[in-house]
Amino acid sequence: MGLPESGRTLSAPPIGGLWRDESCWAGRPSSGIPARQAKPFRFGAGMIVQCSDFGRNRMIRLALIGCGGHSRQQHAAPLARYAADHPKAVRLVAACDLDRARAERVCDEFGFAHAYSDLNEMLEREHPDGCVCIVPVPSIVELGAELFRRGIPCVIEKPPGVSLEEAESLAEVARATGTPNMVSVNRRFIPLLNRGIAWARDRGPIFRVRVSLLRHGRREPEFVWSTGIHGIDAARHIVGEVAKWEASVHRTPGSATAWYTIRMTFANGCRGVVELAPTAGMVEESYELLGEGWRVQVVSTVWESVTLRCWRDGRLELETASRPDQPVFFNCGAYDEVVEFVGALKAGRSPRPDLEAVLPSARIGFEIAGRSAGTC
Ligand SMILES: NC(=O)c1ccc[n+]([C@@H]2O[C@H](COP(=O)([O-])OP(=O)(O)OC[C@H]3O[C@@H](n4cnc5c(N)ncnc54)[C@H](O)[C@@H]3O)[C@@H](O)[C@H]2O)c1
Repeated sequence: MGLPESGRTLSAPPIGGLWRDESCWAGRPSSGIPARQAKPFRFGAGMIVQCSDFGRNRMIRLALIGCGGHSRQQHAAPLARYAADHPKAVRLVAACDLDRARAERVCDEFGFAHAYSDLNEMLEREHPDGCVCIVPVPSIVELGAELFRRGIPCVIEKPPGVSLEEAESLAEVARATGTPNMVSVNRRFIPLLNRGIAWARDRGPIFRVRVSLLRHGRREPEFVWSTGIHGIDAARHIVGEVAKWEASVHRTPGSATAWYTIRMTFANGCRGVVELAPTAGMVEESYELLGEGWRVQVVSTVWESVTLRCWRDGRLELETASRPDQPVFFNCGAYDEVVEFVGALKAGRSPRPDLEAVLPSARIGFEIAGRSAGTC
């Protein structure tokens, strides 16, 4: 096997056809966590990785693992749209589901090339450059760890496990293998939320953040760590790291399940509150940012519409909404997640947010569940 023709010096010998470039993707999200050691970045088994322009100029081969309802609507659909928008950038090589009929349906509807019902067979035949793994929560850690160990860059769903122990163990595998990974916390990619954050940052520091997740009939006891993680993570996305938090868990007589109020103090001094109301009789998410003389409000019906309103000095300065004709996967950030994942693979960097970046959000959700167990 010869050396690549151009690009920086690669630091490791070609073991099993892999090359390592220490400078390739050691970047970290702006979390203040130091860059960790780079590990081999594999573009398909047996391929030489050349960092600088290599990924940009070649088709990224993507596979989807798990073809259930969420996968179809919020991953297969935006992947297909991205592939249509960027025909020379990605190839949707395979869809894999234990239920082969589901995989075949995803192939038919969204243009994935081959259907599989066996993950090993799919990986060995297709050598994908990246996988989007959207499986039931109890399987996330097992399959995620498998992809990490194989060195296949991947997107995994939230929550990263069914317990804090599982999440921490998966994070250990991620650190040990160094495999580029991304957790699908799509609120970080809601276009109008990010526009509101940018508007706010131009006005000055955020004093308060308020996140509210209202749901209808969500009685599952795991709500706080399985869905509530979105509210916690969105608050961290908006403001930054949480220095301390406290949660109250209310179970009013007659209520079907617990509701939660999580108060946060961020490292930068901002205060925040995340309200989780799983049985509020309707579905809505809202994000509110307050500063000196201004307010930003983002409200979503999850996800048919998203509205953004920005007030300053007593008047409404900006009011806009998602386009009614555009697919919901744009409104909820799912399309921009694809942009991030493919962009990272092409640039030879780790996608954001990775498991390390999302872990603090998961910890808060699991700790609240653990502390409140038996008390409500
Ligand atoms: N980000 C969000 O807002 C959001 C919303 C809903 C669901 N989710 C997440 O999406 C994930 C999937 O949810 P869903 O509702 O689509 O679940 P689902 O049960 O409808 O579908 C999961 C699919 O994965 C398949 N599968 C399971 N193990 C597999 C394996 N080893 N190999 C291949 N396929 C396998 C199943 O056969 C099934 O078709 C969950 O982890 C959930 O937490 C996220």
